[in-house]
Amino acid sequence: KRVLSVVGARPQFIKAFPVSKALSGVHEEVVVHTGQHYDTMLSGVFFEELDIPEPAYNLGVGSGSHADQTGRMMIELDRVMDAESPDVVLVYGDTNSTLAGALVAAKRSASLVHIEAGLRSGNRAMPEEHNRIATDHLADVLIAPTERAVETLRTEGVDGEVHETGDVMYDALLYVRKRANEISTLRSDLGIDSTEYVLATIHRAANTDDRDRLGGIVDGLSSVDMPVVVPIHPRTERALHEYGLFETANEQLTIIDPVGYLDFVHLLDGAGLVATDSGGVQREAFYLDTPCVTMRDETEWVQTIDCGWNTLVGADGSRISRALARIDSPATKPQLYGNGQAAPRVAEVIANA
Ligand code: UD1
Ligand code: UDP
Repeated sequence: KRVLSVVGARPQFIKAFPVSKALSGVHEEVVVHTGQHYDTMLSGVFFEELDIPEPAYNLGVGSGSHADQTGRMMIELDRVMDAESPDVVLVYGDTNSTLAGALVAAKRSASLVHIEAGLRSGNRAMPEEHNRIATDHLADVLIAPTERAVETLRTEGVDGEVHETGDVMYDALLYVRKRANEISTLRSDLGIDSTEYVLATIHRAANTDDRDRLGGIVDGLSSVDMPVVVPIHPRTERALHEYGLFETANEQLTIIDPVGYLDFVHLLDGAGLVATDSGGVQREAFYLDTPCVTMRDETEWVQTIDCGWNTLVGADGSRISRALARIDSPATKPQLYGNGQAAPRVAEVIANA
């Protein structure tokens, strides 16, 4: 099949990495980068260190309001799909790049395949929730990571065919874990070569666009009695400056630029605890047996909560502080998101799409 993969934001490059590997030699893939993320440390670094085909197109759309960003992506993607006539359009996750790809593909003859279908936070105030729901209802083929996601799709009555494959992000992690720990020197560069540190990431709009929430997170993380390493998303850095919180945060926490995937996996593998509002990082922490504290009011990855490896704490400083003070890993860990062989299953499904 002639597959056109649409990517644009950091987690999509990582998800595309195992899938592109599995497509290679079986299908013909054209990668289109919308340009939603454009800083080297949010984009270029992943193409350098991972085996993802160089994008045939970079649409250079950049940042903007939801409508402006999505609309410009759609106009450009329409031209690309005219030129490439794909059999299959592949979209990942829940970003504006996902929605744009889905909306353009849905009105064409190409089959629209959505990887990471059926995830829901139940919070309609989240831009990603709209992107997920709309994409799932437009898709011809839905690739769901779990049985629960499959059930959600059935309950919502989607039209497309649904396949349960496990999580492609688990495949990605298994590919790089060993190499990350061999190559990365970041832990020792930061002087934290032990498990006695917390790795934290924050970028969710609900947290960055609300001074009280972001302030609560900074307070909570600052209360920890060990180093807290924060590779900072540019959106969060800007918000900290805007709210006058950057200096305090920078004194209390080890704020560093965003890092590449290998460095990140190395940091995550060594951390005693993870505190995050990221979708990807919650389950990477789970895969690496690192207990996670999720600084959100709800999550799409509910099973990590149910089995005790993840704790939802919202953005309240004292709740975050209490959760981080009590590091304990449950005695057992279920296999929730497949066996790390999701991407080859995706390639098989695409053959019949
Ligand atoms: C986007 C996704 C989010 C995903 C995240 C992954 C949407 C609605 N949001 O959020 O679901 O979890 O990516 O990281 O699609 N910026 C830069 N450099 C860049 C990119 C962004 O400085 O290379 C700054 C700009 O100020 C921009 C802001 O970050 O306005 C937000 O970027 P945007 O792509 O709109 O959303 P994210 O918050 O990154
Ligand atoms: N990540 C990374 N460097 C960082 C922070 C995160 O490589 O500095 C990776 C992380 O391993 C995960 C992905 O980025 O695979 C998560 O992306 P993000 O948190 O931006 O988005 P989300 O998953 O919330 O959509």
